[in-house]
Amino acid sequence: MLNKKIEEALNSQINAELYSAYLYMSMVAYFESKNLTGFSNWMQVQVQEELSHAQKFFNYVNERGGLVTLQAIDQPDTEWDSVQTVFDATLEHEQKVTSLINDLVALTRAENDNATYNFLQWFVTEQVEEEASADAVIQKLNLIGNFGPGIFMMDQEMANRVFTPPATTA
Ligand code: FEO
Repeated sequence: MLNKKIEEALNSQINAELYSAYLYMSMVAYFESKNLTGFSNWMQVQVQEELSHAQKFFNYVNERGGLVTLQAIDQPDTEWDSVQTVFDATLEHEQKVTSLINDLVALTRAENDNATYNFLQWFVTEQVEEEASADAVIQKLNLIGNFGPGIFMMDQEMANRVFTPPATTA
């Protein structure tokens, strides 16, 4: 059985993961409006990842006999100045999510909830990848700058990303 503090924190994290999906979906809309279909695909995969993260937390709360309480999702930004600023915002957001996961881990230690501590280790590892993948895109964009043909070529490369569902949903 989950204690109330942990249950509340996990419910907040479900909201944070759904907000992440919402933010990235807004970025998909931005890329679509610019006809950058490869960047749009990359970000659409990101949306699917966030939905799977939310589902993982959702399933875990249920499995532990807790109550999932869905909360209102904030409106995300809808405009960015450039492809670069979209990915700067993506990395910044992922760094924020990493700190939320770290806070959750700290709470499980304080509450002596080893099961939730173990469950969160998947997310600790996932956040390393989440930050690295956004950073890898930024590194390339730094080389390209606003050079149109470079953005065009990178758009084609970004079309190759595919969503791989996590091995388990719990
Ligand atoms: Fe669910 Fe991108 O962290």
